Amino acid sequence: MELPVDDRHQGRLTKDGIRIHDPSDFAGMRTAGDLAARILDAIAVEVFPGQTTAAIDDVITRMVEEAGATSATIGYKGYQHASCISVNHVVCHGIPGAKVLKDGDILNIDVTVIVDGWFGDSSRMYVAGKLSRKAERLIQITHDALFKGIEAVRPGNTFGDIGVAIQSYVEGNRMSVVRDFCGHGLGRVFHAPPNVLHYGRAGTGAILEEGMFFTIEPMVNLGRPETKVLADDWTAVTRDKSLSAQFEHSVGVTADGCEIFTLSPGGRFHPTWGG
Ligand code: MF3
Ligand code: CO
Ligand code: CO
Repeated sequence: MELPVDDRHQGRLTKDGIRIHDPSDFAGMRTAGDLAARILDAIAVEVFPGQTTAAIDDVITRMVEEAGATSATIGYKGYQHASCISVNHVVCHGIPGAKVLKDGDILNIDVTVIVDGWFGDSSRMYVAGKLSRKAERLIQITHDALFKGIEAVRPGNTFGDIGVAIQSYVEGNRMSVVRDFCGHGLGRVFHAPPNVLHYGRAGTGAILEEGMFFTIEPMVNLGRPETKVLADDWTAVTRDKSLSAQFEHSVGVTADGCEIFTLSPGGRFHPTWGG
């Protein structure tokens, strides 16, 4: 018998409304996360000067279909694409379209897929053509900031510990952390409690427990942290037009740390890695 959607949820909620998943739920997240990661690996060859972001998104749509999976973003709050593609000063939620990539453009591609009801959400940076020194430094700091956050994921630590790890690293490198967008719980849903802030104070916020699933997805600006949303009601840009970068993994808290569900099978998570 097919259960009503809410009854498929196992485990319990914490007092902060954060779902504690069962050990058996990790397998579903692993499969969904792996598909998101394989799509992000395979899309790298589609990023080059002269290419449109719509063409990249078309290939992603096809890859999701061919995998027998579902895009989490098509139809989400009226969004119509299988990815968000955020170029240069676009912070996040860039809409794929007729925009033609030019040499030196940096872009985040964010893909969320649903496999057997589980959500895999990941994004990475890519470059069209040659990577400039300043963009390379921004991308490196953003990537490393994500991993500072991931290193703080273990039972007993708090969400504030994740935030402060990211913020202190980014600001120590004289860049800024975007405050207007955050990571999120996920699992059999796209966006669930908690809001995973990429800034904060040590020891504050909810305590991490084994079985929590969430994303960490810091956005880092070369200039000031403020953003604004364009008239399309989706595209978020830096107010000062400075370059912005983002990396995102979906993770699950384990007994002694975390499992990253969206690791790149090809070792291509960073634009200068892999072949
Ligand atoms: N994948 C994004 C995230 O990391 C959400 C995109 S929602 C969309 O949470 F509708 F803009 F695609
Ligand atoms: Co996300
Ligand atoms: Co995402």
